[in-house]
Amino acid sequence: MIRARITGTGSYVPEKVLTNLDIEKFLDTNDEWIRARTGISERHIAADGEQTSDLATRAAERAMEMAGVSADEIDLIVVGTITGDYPWPATACVVQANLGAKNAGAFDVSAACSGFLYALSCAVDRVEAGRAQKVLVIGAEILSRIVNWEDRNTCILFGDAAGAVIVEAGEGDRGILSTHLHADGTQLELLYQPGFGTKNLPSVEALKDKSYFLEMQGNEVFKVAVRSMASVAKIALEANGMTAEDVDLFIPHQANIRILNATAKKIGLKDEQVYINVDRFGNTSGATIPLALDEANRAGRIKEGDILLLDAFGGGFTWAATLLRW
Ligand code: COA
Repeated sequence: MIRARITGTGSYVPEKVLTNLDIEKFLDTNDEWIRARTGISERHIAADGEQTSDLATRAAERAMEMAGVSADEIDLIVVGTITGDYPWPATACVVQANLGAKNAGAFDVSAACSGFLYALSCAVDRVEAGRAQKVLVIGAEILSRIVNWEDRNTCILFGDAAGAVIVEAGEGDRGILSTHLHADGTQLELLYQPGFGTKNLPSVEALKDKSYFLEMQGNEVFKVAVRSMASVAKIALEANGMTAEDVDLFIPHQANIRILNATAKKIGLKDEQVYINVDRFGNTSGATIPLALDEANRAGRIKEGDILLLDAFGGGFTWAATLLRW
């Protein structure tokens, strides 16, 4: 059996750091409230002129370097993003051009904060089917451009970043063990961006009242996120005959420290099994998991043979889990 395996990780965050204290200066909020309710202290913000594809390309180059894979060896590029450079074409195509990956197909996946795990599942399926040998999977976002910086309920939560992995065909028991995707579109307005798609075209009114920005009912999203992430994590463990005790590292979507802690508790994980970096980056949507994975990998936190549980939840709603042996 062909097994899809992650052979390289990379990430990139923009230079500019926006702390809670910085936000206090222009918004009716404070550092203490933000840290207590979200666990976030600071986030990185893309510079003017810096695009999602730029972040994605930097992260990709680092993953390729670690894997020892050159641009022309890549068969496919899949980018999980909801803040692409353009509505279309895909940001994956911009990355393909930036890298000069002339033998690669390229497309984006729109699954909000679950985008990276959805994108990864496409790579795994192509590789396991024998239709691709080396796939570049990226989660990249510039959320700072779609949040309303006058809305204290939402803007404090988000940041910009990119993370990437190289997935290669291999054999043996190391690699992706299973991926589980779920969605429920019946309550999409609890977390979404109303404009500008075909439903809400650009208009002077929308620009004036900022009704095209990301909107969220935080309390409602919180409850569904915990329930869904815990449930899909258990499904992934059960599918592989494992329990929470088998997990060496749990890398959840970094939405909010309270969501992470509540989810980990529901799954039955101990604090030392959980990777957390939301304090330094905030919620970077599709980028949180590959960013955390790269950090953990480069810090030597992951050893060969370790069991990793990746778990995401996002707008749609979408949620997903991936279990893998490193
Ligand atoms: N600073 C200070 N006060 C704020 C604030 C801010 N940034 N944002 C909201 N408040 C106020 C509210 O106006 C409200 O005041 P009121 O009681 O006078 O009306 C009070 O704080 C409590 O608001 P509430 O929305 O109930 O707070 P909360 O405990 O639910 O925390 C979130 C808000 C957004 C942090 C929380 O709901 C959350 O994390 N939700 C999940 C969001 C998420 O992660 N989404 C992405 C999933 S992928």
